[in-house]
Amino acid sequence: MSAILPPAERLWWKHPLDRVEGTWIVIALVWCLTMFVMMVGWHIYGKQNLSTETYRTTPEQFSVKAQAMVDKYTVRTETDEKIPVVHPPAGSDVYLVARLWSWWPIIELEKDKTYRLHLTSMDYNHGFSLQPTNINIQVVPGFEHVVNVTPNQSGQFSVVCNEYCGINHHSMVGRLYVK
Ligand code: CUA
Repeated sequence: MSAILPPAERLWWKHPLDRVEGTWIVIALVWCLTMFVMMVGWHIYGKQNLSTETYRTTPEQFSVKAQAMVDKYTVRTETDEKIPVVHPPAGSDVYLVARLWSWWPIIELEKDKTYRLHLTSMDYNHGFSLQPTNINIQVVPGFEHVVNVTPNQSGQFSVVCNEYCGINHHSMVGRLYVK
């Protein structure tokens, strides 16, 4: 018997199933189903999955809220493009806008304080990936994704776009500070 020769009996699927093979098929099936159920389960147990809320929005509606936050809580600007750095109070709503090919504004949070982070896209599908942590959220135009965040480490983090969104996708990098 060889893997590259045709089987001796053409109707191999009509042979009785070996006990060992059957056992492995059952084990694999049970494990697949366990993993499938845990895709939902990890929203409840542990910190593996982020549970986001999603609402309908429009670029205009979201821009108004983001601009109001920026007008109120900007503490300085950074980079040559003078991107506002926003330091909103603990417990408040924080807005982050994704568009071709930037994240706006720069957000500064405080460690161990909880915020409601709102995300949307002004144009195409983008991906919010917070580096170097393992946090990934799809950012879809027309929808407002909200996640309760409590940063537990301070430092400077990068927001990297994790969905291919065109020629400058690789340059779509933002900043997030935790003090
Ligand atoms: Cu935005 Cu890739």
